Amino acid sequence: MNRIRKYLFKQAVDLCEIPIITIVDLGCIKKENPAPNSYGWSTKAWVELTTAIVYTVDIDPQSIKTSKRVLSRHLSQEDFKRVVYRLQDATDFLEHFTTQIDILYFDGPGEKGSRNSLRVSNKLLKAGSVILFDDCDLPESEDGRRSVIPDAIDMGFKVTMDNKRQVLMKRV
Ligand SMILES: C[S@@+](CC[C@H](N)C(=O)[O-])C[C@H]1O[C@@H](n2cnc3c(N)ncnc32)[C@H](O)[C@@H]1O
Repeated sequence: MNRIRKYLFKQAVDLCEIPIITIVDLGCIKKENPAPNSYGWSTKAWVELTTAIVYTVDIDPQSIKTSKRVLSRHLSQEDFKRVVYRLQDATDFLEHFTTQIDILYFDGPGEKGSRNSLRVSNKLLKAGSVILFDDCDLPESEDGRRSVIPDAIDMGFKVTMDNKRQVLMKRV
C-alpha cells in the first residue's frame, strides 16, 4: 500500500475518540497487486494500525478469496486471526450486526448501498466514532458516494477531512 493511503487510514484511527475495538471494512481486498492510488488493501491497514477486530464484508466470493490470500501472506499469524470475513451484502450484514462499531469504512457498495448501510448502522455508531467514505470524487454511476455525506451530517457526523476523493467524519 502506498504511503499516502496508509496516512489516510492513520488519520481515521487518530481521529477516533473511543477505544478502537471493532472496525467494519465494507469491500474486501479485490486486487492482489493494486496500482498506486487505487485499491489500497484497507483491511491490512486497519489491522496494522490498531488492535481491533476487523470485519471485512463483500458480496463477491472472489474478493473474499483474494483478500484471504493477500492477508495470509502479508500479516503475521496473530494479526490474521483478527480479521473476520463476511460474504454478504454490506447493508444486510450491518442490519443484523449487534456490536458497537468504532470505525466504519465505505469502500464496497455504491451510492444507494452506502446510504442504506449508513442508515442501518446508526444504532451501532456512538459519539466519538469515525466513518470514512472513499471514491467521493466519482460519479454515482461509478459508485461515487459524495451524496451520502449530507445523510451522515443529519445523523450527527461532522466532516473533519475532505480531500475530494475521501471524506472523513466523526460523530459528535
Ligand atoms: C474497491 S473494492 C474494495 C477495495 C478494498 N477496500 C481495498 O482497500 O483493497 C470494492 C469491493 O466492494 C464489493 N462490493 C460491491 N458492492 C457491495 C455490496 N453491496 N456489499 C458488499 N460488498 C460490495 C466489490 O465486490 C469489491 O470487492
